[in-house]
Amino acid sequence: MSEEKQQVSRRQFLNYTLTGVGGFMAAGMLVPMLRMAVDPVLQESSAGELANVGLAVEEITNEPQRVDWKIKQVDGWYESEVGKSAWVYKNDNGDIVALSPICKHLGCVVSWEGSEQYPDKFYCPCHGGLYYKSGVNVPNTPPLAPLDVYEHKVKNGMLFLGDAHPQGEA
Ligand code: FES
Repeated sequence: MSEEKQQVSRRQFLNYTLTGVGGFMAAGMLVPMLRMAVDPVLQESSAGELANVGLAVEEITNEPQRVDWKIKQVDGWYESEVGKSAWVYKNDNGDIVALSPICKHLGCVVSWEGSEQYPDKFYCPCHGGLYYKSGVNVPNTPPLAPLDVYEHKVKNGMLFLGDAHPQGEA
């Protein structure tokens, strides 16, 4: 092979250079775009985390008390604060019970002692739904299922609550 044939022509040199620079620039633009598209999917979800609801375990009695707290919710790129509530008490065994206040009929909010007529039950004012203290729905009232129950744990003497699940589910 002659020395001339091994040399890169001006045209080839320009092609290689432009292809290289173009590819480098395209990668520089594509990587951030890909990262932006995929990043929320790779982020660890805050769902399922238990939140400190600001209630000391020693303050929990056998009388249901309402607890309100806020959690950060991330939906794609949108981050917001969401208010949550629970009815918390200790049952006869001394176990902590945290019930969702959302009525299983049509989603109104139930209250303990919400009705003078039923002082020992959770009462839903929307259609007169009733639940026993355990959260089980009273037969022949509109709700057809028990109140959901929150996952909970105790850490440093404080109550932490997670997601609410239908009773009987883990
Ligand atoms: S929404 Fe509670 S009884 Fe209807």
